[in-house]
Amino acid sequence: MHAYLACFQPECGATYDITQVIYTCPRCGGLLEARYDGSPGEPWTLKQVFRERRMSNLPIDQSGVWRYRELFPFLDNAAHIVTLREGQTPLLDAPRAASYAGLHRFTVKHQGYNPTGSFKDNGMTCGASQAVRLGMKRVACVSTGNTSASMAAYASAAGLQPLVFIPNGNIAFGKLAQALEYGGQTLQVEANFDQILALVRRLAERLGIYLLNSVNPFRIEGQKSIVIEMLDQLDWRVPDWIVLPGGNLGNTSAIGKALRELLAWGFIDRLPRLAVVQAEGSAPFWQFMQSEHRGSFPVVEHPETLATAIKIGDPVSWPKALKEITDSGGVVERATEQEIADAKAQIGLCGIGCEPASAATLAGARKLVAAGVIDPGAEVVAILTGNVMKDPDYIYRYHTGQLVAPGQVAIQATFGNPPVVVPNDEDRIAALLG
Ligand code: F0G
Repeated sequence: MHAYLACFQPECGATYDITQVIYTCPRCGGLLEARYDGSPGEPWTLKQVFRERRMSNLPIDQSGVWRYRELFPFLDNAAHIVTLREGQTPLLDAPRAASYAGLHRFTVKHQGYNPTGSFKDNGMTCGASQAVRLGMKRVACVSTGNTSASMAAYASAAGLQPLVFIPNGNIAFGKLAQALEYGGQTLQVEANFDQILALVRRLAERLGIYLLNSVNPFRIEGQKSIVIEMLDQLDWRVPDWIVLPGGNLGNTSAIGKALRELLAWGFIDRLPRLAVVQAEGSAPFWQFMQSEHRGSFPVVEHPETLATAIKIGDPVSWPKALKEITDSGGVVERATEQEIADAKAQIGLCGIGCEPASAATLAGARKLVAAGVIDPGAEVVAILTGNVMKDPDYIYRYHTGQLVAPGQVAIQATFGNPPVVVPNDEDRIAALLG
């Protein structure tokens, strides 16, 4: 299939060579996406090929991203691929979370099982491979933590130099630690995510650095594999709902694009509905969808949430996300800090665990069931975006009743499980344990 870049704005429609180093449309400033002429092949045959590759020891077959490479054929040379065997993440049944949400069944697609512990690896393997193909030497991103962890790992694995920008004092320690360990030259800027993104976009242009934020269309191509692999694991049965957290809205864009393409190419026969959940203090997309006329986008100047991964007030990909929500008959919900914290503890009690932003899915699903939007019998799959160990500080504070949300609001330890200090005394411990 012939691959090219196209402006996402239908009224512009400009197209560009797939090897051009651009992130937005030079003509109108719109977002760009990778497009392909023709179809990847006969769906039944390709589904068999995807299955057979699970038996292979070839790195690109073992990768849960590149295993599906016919569905994002933007590279012309497999030698450019940098893989850490990303993807291959499990679909897990979470019965306790299901009853918490009022659902008969709740399944999670856990992207926290990725090499650097988040769904960013699905996209980064593609973004980093394109950087290699383009002959770039330095790559950069601004991040609430997970993108930088992933980018540092993939860049270092590929022999590229990773340059990480993060909001000073606002990311989970586990994520910052990863960026350092994976060799990212790390700059903590005294500004918020949205401000730093504008800065990094200018610096990338000025210094010839390749930008690996989700505005990069190849990141989006890779993140399509999250839902492709999910459907493969469901034997290509389409769930009723896919629930995911929304920050910069790159993932919503990727999941929606994948589903539209799979429908057009004959891999599935209907679209699931998307439900995007934002944190109440960082919910510009939710606010936008509430407004009747949907004029200008209501940027949140000072976004706030303890789910720092989705602490974003000016999401770059909202025009794409709007299309995906509209096309899928989807909805946008928001959840409070307390709702996110309690939902997270419930996911933990399933023996699964996730980071705070991921738990917005269960909190949102619960509200949507209560509001009658999601039917209790619906098949619901939530995308858990990050690993439980990304933000241990949050967990300790929650379980010990010390978690405080922005505005000095104390979070109740509804499902708190604090450690108990005991003397080194067998009888007293035996009495305590009963
Ligand atoms: N969940 C986690 C764990 C994330 O790290 C992010 C985004 C999201 C959800 C939201 O996804 O932006 O595609 O809507 N983290 C980015 C970062 C912004 O820098 O790591 P989105």
